[in-house]
Amino acid sequence: MRAVPRHVACVMDGNGRWAQRRSLPRTAGHRAAETTVIDVIEAARGAGVEWLSLYAFSTENWGRPGDEVDYLMRLVRRIVRKHAPLLLARGIRCRFLGVTDPRIPRALARDFADLATLTGDNRGMTLTVAFDHGGRRDIVEAARSLIRDGVPAEEVTESRFAAHLPLPDTPDVDLVIRTSGEQRISNFMLWKVAYAEWVFPEVLWPDFRAADFLACLHTYRRRDRRFGGLPPRTNGEPR
Ligand code: IPE
Ligand code: IPE
Ligand code: MG
Repeated sequence: MRAVPRHVACVMDGNGRWAQRRSLPRTAGHRAAETTVIDVIEAARGAGVEWLSLYAFSTENWGRPGDEVDYLMRLVRRIVRKHAPLLLARGIRCRFLGVTDPRIPRALARDFADLATLTGDNRGMTLTVAFDHGGRRDIVEAARSLIRDGVPAEEVTESRFAAHLPLPDTPDVDLVIRTSGEQRISNFMLWKVAYAEWVFPEVLWPDFRAADFLACLHTYRRRDRRFGGLPPRTNGEPR
């Protein structure tokens, strides 16, 4: 097993509680999340992580109050525009997973596309921002795509199915970090987390820093990944 996970995915959770604990509006927690995002990107890159995915907005998050949703749309646009030069300078390739709902402001969708184009030739870490993402929706879309292509049922294999998911060159997730102590998937990259290791730091996302990220990598290193098999045998030990 690699010492450093190749693909780390973060469920950036706890912004609202961070704000509530300070008697601030929930939006203040989202704003405070920006520092963490940049810290984690830098830490992941520095540690040699090749793929970093960040869950920024789920298909279910549309159910939040309109003013919070609007705030998130504006905030994400501001962050994308502000940090584009840094991402480019660091050689990071940026991509966006989801982004299909017509409620997404057109200007935001355009900025996503521009950042993806701007950084498309970068060969450093690949940063995937899951925005308006739902794991189930991706699976349904893959099924539709197979049917549209006229693939016969008996030719649908796991690898062929995976090739119809969005961003199919993305490797399986090795490590998922979900902050704020919540222990659930919340519809995140369902196909690709099949054999991921999970860690659930209690710290809220706006307080999560590079050191916390590195601690998660350290926890991962001590995990015994089996993929349904048995751990490697130590010399001569009987089974
Ligand atoms: C995560 O923080 C950010 C998004 C889902 C956009 P939350 O807003 O879910 O924060 P909590 O879970 O209410 O604390
Ligand atoms: C998951 O967090 C989505 C993101 C972090 C973007 P939520 O806070 O929306 O998830 P639930 O509702 O607690 O499961
Ligand atoms: Mg939450």
